Amino acid sequence: MGLVQGVCFADTGNNVICMDIDKKKIRNLKKGIIPIYEPGLEEIVKRNIKDGRLKFSANLKLAVEESQIIFLCLPTPQSEDGSADIKHIMEVSRRIAGYLNESKIIVSKSTVPVGTVEKIRQIFENNSKHGIKVVSNPEFLKEGTALQDSLKPDRIVIGTSDKKTAEILAELYKPFVRTGNPIIVMDEKSAELTKYAANSFLAAKITFMNDLANLCEKVGADIEWIRKGIGSDPRIGKNFLFAGIGYGGSCFPKDVKALVKTSGVHGHRLRILEAVDSINEDQKKVIFAKLKKHFEGGLKGKAIAVWGIAFKPQTDDIREAPSAVLISSLLNEGVKVSVHDPAAMPNAKKIYGSKIKYCKSAYSALKNADALVVVTEWNEFRRLDLHSIKSLMRTPVIFDGRNIYDPDEVRGSGFVYYGIGRKNGE
Ligand SMILES: NC(=O)c1ccc[n+]([C@@H]2O[C@H](COP(=O)([O-])OP(=O)(O)OC[C@H]3O[C@@H](n4cnc5c(N)ncnc54)[C@H](O)[C@@H]3O)[C@@H](O)[C@H]2O)c1
Repeated sequence: MGLVQGVCFADTGNNVICMDIDKKKIRNLKKGIIPIYEPGLEEIVKRNIKDGRLKFSANLKLAVEESQIIFLCLPTPQSEDGSADIKHIMEVSRRIAGYLNESKIIVSKSTVPVGTVEKIRQIFENNSKHGIKVVSNPEFLKEGTALQDSLKPDRIVIGTSDKKTAEILAELYKPFVRTGNPIIVMDEKSAELTKYAANSFLAAKITFMNDLANLCEKVGADIEWIRKGIGSDPRIGKNFLFAGIGYGGSCFPKDVKALVKTSGVHGHRLRILEAVDSINEDQKKVIFAKLKKHFEGGLKGKAIAVWGIAFKPQTDDIREAPSAVLISSLLNEGVKVSVHDPAAMPNAKKIYGSKIKYCKSAYSALKNADALVVVTEWNEFRRLDLHSIKSLMRTPVIFDGRNIYDPDEVRGSGFVYYGIGRKNGE
């Protein structure tokens, strides 16, 4: 998130220093080597390095001294109790306070629980004589389209009660909202909560469709018809209505859990999100249950091809990916797992090592497979050469975890097809 934001600010003419504790990452970035897969990012980073507006450093003191506005884009991972861990934010704030050479604006861009901005302010008041302004400015970019989302954001949320600070940040963001998308200035706490509200609402929307898909299977309805039938109502909207095997990634799971936790701390139970979280955990297991049923429990020794490991297409991020739940269940049952993912295989290797087979192409993963499971809906998986697939596989069975195929077409070519909430989807 920090890299994408930094390069976007540089691209609009600002001088930016991206500071990170990871020295190897900084060394690579100086050479234009990008640590993540994100479409378009490498090109814009290289251009801004060449033009001299984008610099990288592992030296916090230098980065602080040379900057007027400091964006905190630090990780806020999930703690053991489900809350967001803000230790990195607190620690780095303390260090920044020690290096302050003049009054500056500190922007909290990480996703942080309500009240964090206030805690950051306290740290600066206790550790520095320079007056600072602390702002909450949550980020709404999506992995896979992060650059476009940042260059043309739907909205910018600025949480501050200081008018002058709001004007400075609005000026910084002006080039990104030329088409008229709003810059919404609000108080700090509302801004902090807005980010959690957005992610939790989206997680709830997906989960509603996933759970309804489970009902569809029981009553013999098709979730795809339901999706079309409700999505054209503008109050519901067409986006985020595709049923699948659960949401994952570095944000939705931790943010839903963190908001449930925050609510509890303040004496309120957000029961709707408790349900979302628990339904989603179950949803990640549905393909495995379907596999067991199909093979009548006997998965040991079977060869299963898995297409897609990333938590969604266009990213190499596998944090909290539904593929992890499936792959570990398959390995526990003694299944031989072959995988293909266009971007996430290097990250998968760090976790699974030699326990699974990594295949250069989607079709090579199918050789002698007893079943194919589509976990991530990468574009390259959408059009199938069913004839070739059938000749490669030992038995023609497809588990479509993202409902990207037409069941009739797949079945018509002699396959057994299972979707999520599809009519006759078993
Ligand atoms: N990934 C997203 O799509 C996304 C979108 C919106 C908001 N966010 C939020 O942004 C924040 C960061 O998320 P991310 O996905 O970019 O995390 P990340 O783990 O990919 O990146 C965080 C970076 O911070 C660095 N870091 C850790 N400790 C440090 C320290 N003490 N000093 C300097 N650098 C340090 C790490 O080395 C790493 O490069 C989180 O709060 C997340 O919820 C993420």
